Amino acid sequence: MNKKIIYLTGFMASGKSTIGPILANTLGWNFYDLDKLIEEAAGKSVRKIFEENGEDYFREFETEMLKKNSELKNYIISLGGGTVENKINLEIIKSTGYLIYLESSAEETYKRLRFKRDRPALLFDGEDEPTKAEFLEKINSLLQKRINYYNQADLKINTDNCQVGRTVDKLSQIIKKEFYGENIKD
Ligand code: S3P
Repeated sequence: MNKKIIYLTGFMASGKSTIGPILANTLGWNFYDLDKLIEEAAGKSVRKIFEENGEDYFREFETEMLKKNSELKNYIISLGGGTVENKINLEIIKSTGYLIYLESSAEETYKRLRFKRDRPALLFDGEDEPTKAEFLEKINSLLQKRINYYNQADLKINTDNCQVGRTVDKLSQIIKKEFYGENIKD
């Protein structure tokens, strides 16, 4: 494998930012979280960027930061849930790295995100709390829009009901084989 970056994609709360640093540590690689890079460069949270500058501005920033970091070596980079939806981003990702899709169901996503309000792509208008059906509908419609992009990954692994440590174990074994030709028993 001549690629030197592993990108993690998947829906919001699929585990990208949790699994990324642990996986990097296991492999002795470095870790970046694309949203964190954007927040550091912008000097404000993703949520604030959406509120004050709008989504288009955020998406341009996202592409710029992705480009800027796509020449790194031995890095795991966690992407945002919407990064792969952009054609240019997907081209950069596919040409510079190995893409892993952390798959999670709508139901599991609901469980993980129902009390969180920090994802601007999943915010609801009005003051009332969304019902479970409304929440699931929004997750499903976004997931539907994105599934074809997520499925362009080199590897897909389901994270529903799977402990983080177990997912990291599985991934590190596959990566060691893909990148270093090591065959490690289960
Ligand atoms: C987004 C997901 C977020 C972040 C931004 C937009 C999306 O990242 O990039 O809020 O469109 O799905 P996470 O997937 O890490 O939550």
